[in-house]
Amino acid sequence: MVSLNDIRSTYLDYFNRNDHRVVDSSPLVPRNDPTLMFTNAGMVQFKNVFTGVETRDYTRAVTSQKCVRAGGKHNDLDNVGYTARHHTFFEMLGNFSFGDYFKDEAIPFAWDLLTKEFGINKDKLLVTVYHDDDEAANIWKKYAGLSDDRIIRIATDDNFWSMGATGPCGPCSEIFYDHGDHIWGGPPGSADEDGDRFIEIWNLVFMQFEQFEGGRRENLPRPSIDTGMGLERIAALLQGKHDNYDTDLFRALIDASAQATGADPDGPGKIHHRVIADHLRSTSFLIADGVMPSNEGRGYVLRRIMRRAMRHAHLLGATDPLMYRLVPKLVQQMGQAYPELGRAQALIEETLRLEETRFQTTLDRGLRLLEDELAGLPDGSDLPGAAAFKLYDTFGFPLDLTQDALREKGRAVDTAGFDAAMAAQKQKARAAWSGSGETADASIWFDLAETHGVTEFLGYDMEAAEGQILALVQDGAETKEAAAGSSVLIVANQTPFYAESGGQVGDTGLLKTATGTAQISDTRKTAGIVFHVAEVTDGTLTAGQGAELIVDPTRRGAIRANHSATHLLHEALREALGPHVAQRGSLNAPDRLRFDFSHSKALSREELRKVEADVNAYIRQNAAVDTRIMTPDDARALGAQALFGEKYGDEVRVVSMGQQPGSGKGADGETYSLELCGGTHVARTGDIGMFVTLGDSASSSGVRRIEALTGAAAFEYLSAQDHLLAEVASALKTQTSEVPERIKALLDERKALLSDVANLRRELAMSGGSAAPAEAKVIGGVPFLGQVLSGVTGKDLPGLIDAHKTQMGSGAVLLIADAGGKAAIAAGVTADLTGRISAVEMVKAAAGVLGGKGGGGRPDMAQAGGPSVDGADKAIAAVEALLQE
Ligand code: ALA
Repeated sequence: MVSLNDIRSTYLDYFNRNDHRVVDSSPLVPRNDPTLMFTNAGMVQFKNVFTGVETRDYTRAVTSQKCVRAGGKHNDLDNVGYTARHHTFFEMLGNFSFGDYFKDEAIPFAWDLLTKEFGINKDKLLVTVYHDDDEAANIWKKYAGLSDDRIIRIATDDNFWSMGATGPCGPCSEIFYDHGDHIWGGPPGSADEDGDRFIEIWNLVFMQFEQFEGGRRENLPRPSIDTGMGLERIAALLQGKHDNYDTDLFRALIDASAQATGADPDGPGKIHHRVIADHLRSTSFLIADGVMPSNEGRGYVLRRIMRRAMRHAHLLGATDPLMYRLVPKLVQQMGQAYPELGRAQALIEETLRLEETRFQTTLDRGLRLLEDELAGLPDGSDLPGAAAFKLYDTFGFPLDLTQDALREKGRAVDTAGFDAAMAAQKQKARAAWSGSGETADASIWFDLAETHGVTEFLGYDMEAAEGQILALVQDGAETKEAAAGSSVLIVANQTPFYAESGGQVGDTGLLKTATGTAQISDTRKTAGIVFHVAEVTDGTLTAGQGAELIVDPTRRGAIRANHSATHLLHEALREALGPHVAQRGSLNAPDRLRFDFSHSKALSREELRKVEADVNAYIRQNAAVDTRIMTPDDARALGAQALFGEKYGDEVRVVSMGQQPGSGKGADGETYSLELCGGTHVARTGDIGMFVTLGDSASSSGVRRIEALTGAAAFEYLSAQDHLLAEVASALKTQTSEVPERIKALLDERKALLSDVANLRRELAMSGGSAAPAEAKVIGGVPFLGQVLSGVTGKDLPGLIDAHKTQMGSGAVLLIADAGGKAAIAAGVTADLTGRISAVEMVKAAAGVLGGKGGGGRPDMAQAGGPSVDGADKAIAAVEALLQE
């Protein structure tokens, strides 16, 4: 039996031999299409290539594309398990021509592959064409030799394929396989076409037009080809099965489920095994592509699929988490074709296990409540909406899970009642907000959230994505248009822009539509609605337009590095200072980071150096930065650092980075930093580059603040410091390594010189300086020395007074120093004479003459000052007069 993996390779090889580039599947979250929740066809990644907006270095491509149809327009979730061919996840094989070949080659390629490579009996095949597509009909006739009755013309949209309301489109031709008249059903276009006898296996789309809003169509630059063949279907056919779930790959997954639960794969639990096998594929691939279970957007679709699978596992009697145990089998089956699956295996297993563990108890209780509700209802009546809402709100039952559970009993949910209960709850949330004292005009964001749902953030994995403008807001009200020069707040359905929160600043960048461009200077969030603070720089923006949203990547890179470094810093501080260190605030800006933490005293140089060294060691470790989603309680149980007093929702992101060496837990070591965080982070710690602190300071009482730099900013800072040091060394005429010693030597020398200068000054002053040595004269019986000095300061005077007193033995001294034009005055009286004359009186008399006020000291020594030294002689004379009295 030819395996599904072989069929995929045969398809890719065949087109590769025919000059097609084998292109990897694009991720399940489309980067370039805001209208799609998940990639649902092979052509999605080539949308812009068809329309000519983007060119590649090939014009023929072949892919095996991962697709999910479980949310948005294409939603097969409800049918999975109950039918032979519905899947939430499937692979679409497709060959593409971008203005290269058209119908005349596309049809022969398809025919030869089916009949020659795959060896399908020609007589079993028939095709449809769009009703007026004679060209395609003729090629089928001539090349494949199909008779007219096996070329069915269809006039409906079934044979006109379009990607969505807008985008590339064109007539198509579908190839069907006839499983034989033992199965009920009619050919396409007949009344019985829904039967299972004629199964569509391949769709060839002749891409010719681009459709715009309002239905207008324009020709594509060149006619192109897009085809899609479901791998699971063709595998069933080639393996002689009628049911996709009987193919080798599904059988392997179903057997694994049967083995893990001990429930017969073909017994009464058959449907459950099928649901589990299908949902295992979609959940694992979604997680591998970065989707995490949550309560909104894509994350909620993932959660719904996971929980639906878990209920079916429960119905098989599984009491322990089951899904995560099946992941190795899936990786074994599909990991070679999709290496991302193997790379994300640990994350997939852990996410499934955590979700299953936490859902287990509420699942049991919710199912019991459901039984009780049903028991109290008349036979066959719908479950009231309020009960379904309670299951949703209190027990985490997505509506479709409840519907799925009721389906087995032939019952339904009153969905209108459910919607009403949901609306009432939203109203309550709004009332709670308006009572919280937040800004009054926040109501517009609630209105928008109610109309459109909360904004989906794509920025954990992307820095550019397409979105649809849902609203333009000016002066607190919605507007249809915003022209160049106007300031506007822009709301899109999804965005890669991070809205300011948790200390991380909002992103900046560009938003472009077909008619205008806006510069985004900030991004904020209220009531789950992200708004881009914008200035229209060119043209006009209109609500409803598709837009390209491009985050400034350099700035985001720097913010990311700073945010991740903050986590490492937090842990390094705890290690260096103790477990009392807790975050009190932070800022993660592009140019720097700031971290406030509880600690009561300044860090020593050694502490700061250790912290810096630790952070840099973990940067060099270049460990992967992992993100997990869990309940706040689970996160705390793991030891994650959370902000004290912060209110967390039902679930949190837990960011871990770094492995402690030698923690005794084997090669892996223990996780170094584990924090609850909604911010964006580097992929590996090495991306931080380097880390340097700018020192620590007091932020408020008991709170210290460290500012630091990372990456290029850290390098530039250190480099500037280095240059500065080199300049200092050069000025000191020495090597940089000698600078500290040189400065110490200079300071010592300076101290010695200052002391020498003081001594010399004193000696000079004692000897009368440049003036003639003063002679003491006896006035009123008191030996008196009065002298004006230059070259000494007021500070030198007391020492000089003492020296004179000693020299005189008995007497009074008055010294007036010229201190840069001002007068410094000091007087001294030997102890034997203080009864007669006071030094305080003397300085007061002198200061009076020199315009000074007051003066003070003791009777044996006093000092004063005056604004000008002019008149010093008169001041001396005044003191002499005082002595005369
Ligand atoms: N894009 C086409 C489809 O999805 C091939 O059917």
